[in-house]
Amino acid sequence: MKGSLTIKTNDKIAKIDERIYGSFIEQLGRAVYTGIYQPEHPSADEDGFRSDVIAAIKQLNVPLIRYPGGNFLSQYRWEDGIGPKNQRPTRLDIAWRELETNQFGLHEFIDWSKKVNSVPNMAVNLGTRGIQEAADLVEYCNFPGGTYLSDLRQKNGAKEPFAIKTWCLGNEMDGLWEIGAKTAFEYAHLANETAKAMKRVDDTIELVACGSSSMDNPTFGSWEETVLEECYDNIDYLSLHRYYGYYNDDDPSELDNFLAKNVDLDAFIKGVVAMCDAIKARKRSKKTINLSFDEWNVWYHSNDADTQVSSWQVGPHLLEDVYNFEDALLVGSLLITLLKNADRVKIACLAQLVNVIAPIMTDTNGGTWLQSIFYPFMQVSNYGKGVVLTPHVESETYNSREFNNVPYLDTIATYDSTNQTITIFAENKHQHDAIDFSIDFDTLKLKEVIQSTQFSGYAPKDDNRDGKMNLAPLTAVNLDDCHINATLKPLSWNMIQVSVDSK
Ligand code: AHR
Repeated sequence: MKGSLTIKTNDKIAKIDERIYGSFIEQLGRAVYTGIYQPEHPSADEDGFRSDVIAAIKQLNVPLIRYPGGNFLSQYRWEDGIGPKNQRPTRLDIAWRELETNQFGLHEFIDWSKKVNSVPNMAVNLGTRGIQEAADLVEYCNFPGGTYLSDLRQKNGAKEPFAIKTWCLGNEMDGLWEIGAKTAFEYAHLANETAKAMKRVDDTIELVACGSSSMDNPTFGSWEETVLEECYDNIDYLSLHRYYGYYNDDDPSELDNFLAKNVDLDAFIKGVVAMCDAIKARKRSKKTINLSFDEWNVWYHSNDADTQVSSWQVGPHLLEDVYNFEDALLVGSLLITLLKNADRVKIACLAQLVNVIAPIMTDTNGGTWLQSIFYPFMQVSNYGKGVVLTPHVESETYNSREFNNVPYLDTIATYDSTNQTITIFAENKHQHDAIDFSIDFDTLKLKEVIQSTQFSGYAPKDDNRDGKMNLAPLTAVNLDDCHINATLKPLSWNMIQVSVDSK
């Protein structure tokens, strides 16, 4: 089968905002306790942070991390997580029915994010709390000093403000499972008033309002309309959340459908963009609201196991999905979709980062291991730099249970003019046939292949618990002045990076 990508260097989608390679740490399961924080672990540093986990996250390269939730957020008191650790209260986390010891809180998160070369995407509780607590948190974090809360931050060891730029106004407030869930108007009004107060404290911050927690929620559409109508002038981004699962794990024909779910992600993004722009037009506004896709991933493997976990434990084994090879292929395609929409998606968070539906797993009494989904994410976040070029693609297509005309070849190119490199990410979704892949360039002269890799050769249900999965070289990448040719194996994720000169 043949497939092609034509690259026109001046035909750009957008400059990449690298915050789209963000992730998410929720105080949930073993994400924090025995994940990133485990003072008694042999690899723990002077702050109790696992240095083996820090090393893995640095390799993954996540420039922004959302915290502290998630459903946890909607019942959280941020003040519980500051001050001397021996005076912090243990509370019931009524979102996940765990015990929260608060040994890891705000200062620990800020210190830890610096160690993983990341910045916080902080969230305020609009489930059980409101305007005052949110404004107080901005003051505590961002005000230089001389007030009760900023002085308290200094007393707790942080002389300089945290200077947190990006803030989420609650979490999934449209979801009936959420503590303090709201109607669209209740949320919109509270979010707008909270946004006003937070920006009065610090007018340099950027705010993300909750969009729908899933495109399948019955209020999808009307929720966005109400929130945008009310909050438009005081927010900067609208959020989207989406998790993908399997319809029937035992039916091999479902794989084609599973691998096509990027089509759904694309439709979701384009639908929300249309809603933002419709309200913009209705308001005759000059301001554009962009998107924060602040939770996305595959999530279904742990559903049954989670029903067996007993309540009120510290750091229980919850949401510990073991990802397989087909999940990595879908994650690769979802990343390509985020890049294709980089003109409007400015923030995105792979949910989550450690142990909880995560690319990085820890053994409480041992080391770390990397899930299959680690590999495509690591490649795109490290090498998808500069601008996204419009993909002119030719490919055979297929129909699946939910989707029609799905291209077997899913591909995108990014151009980093500073380092004069082009990076091509390409996936072959065909289960049996290779793709004879050709890439044509117009105004760039190709110099040499810097690296070319493939992630292939695994059965769809293989996972990486034995640590044997890895990227392999993609050999026989042929290159001349303005053309590349390579063979993409069936069910494969590939990356080709080349150095270029302007012609
Ligand atoms: O990421 C797991 C959960 O998924 C989050 O807590 C919630 O926001 C979403 O429903």
